[in-house]
Amino acid sequence: MIKMLHLTFVLLSIISFVGRVFLAQSRPEMLEIKWIKIGPHIVNTILLITGFTLVFQGSWLSGEYGWIVAKLIVLLGYVGLGTLAIKSQGTMRWQAFAGAVACFIYIAIVAVSKHALFFL
Ligand code: HEM
Repeated sequence: MIKMLHLTFVLLSIISFVGRVFLAQSRPEMLEIKWIKIGPHIVNTILLITGFTLVFQGSWLSGEYGWIVAKLIVLLGYVGLGTLAIKSQGTMRWQAFAGAVACFIYIAIVAVSKHALFFL
């Protein structure tokens, strides 16, 4: 149940991020609309809450938890590069966008594989 909620908000998070970069590029004035401004914060807060709930529900900290630490560290990259992609312009925007999407994909693969270094 919580996992379904987590996955729903994972999807909403990436959709709202890609949507905001798209708006920043084509209709920046729309980023000032209240629900477009606040919505993603609510989505990402629920994503975090459901993530931490799953950590405790699954007693993940009592085993090998390197993958959870990796998720949290790369999450900072997703948030930081995501903000940069929305706030910057030109090449910088698209480099930050690519970096944020790469972080998101890494986090998702780590979640499924439960291995921070799944590529080794
Ligand atoms: C962009 C952010 C995130 C993405 C893309 C993401 C992705 C995923 C995915 C795809 C799963 C399902 C894995 C599976 O069914 O095998 C999952 C589960 C999980 N996530 Fe996240 N997650 C994110 C954020 C977080 C955060 C912040 C935490 C908390 C530290 C967290 C903790 C967990 C836990 C503990 C599970 C459950 C693993 C299980 O029971 O199999 N996630 N996540």
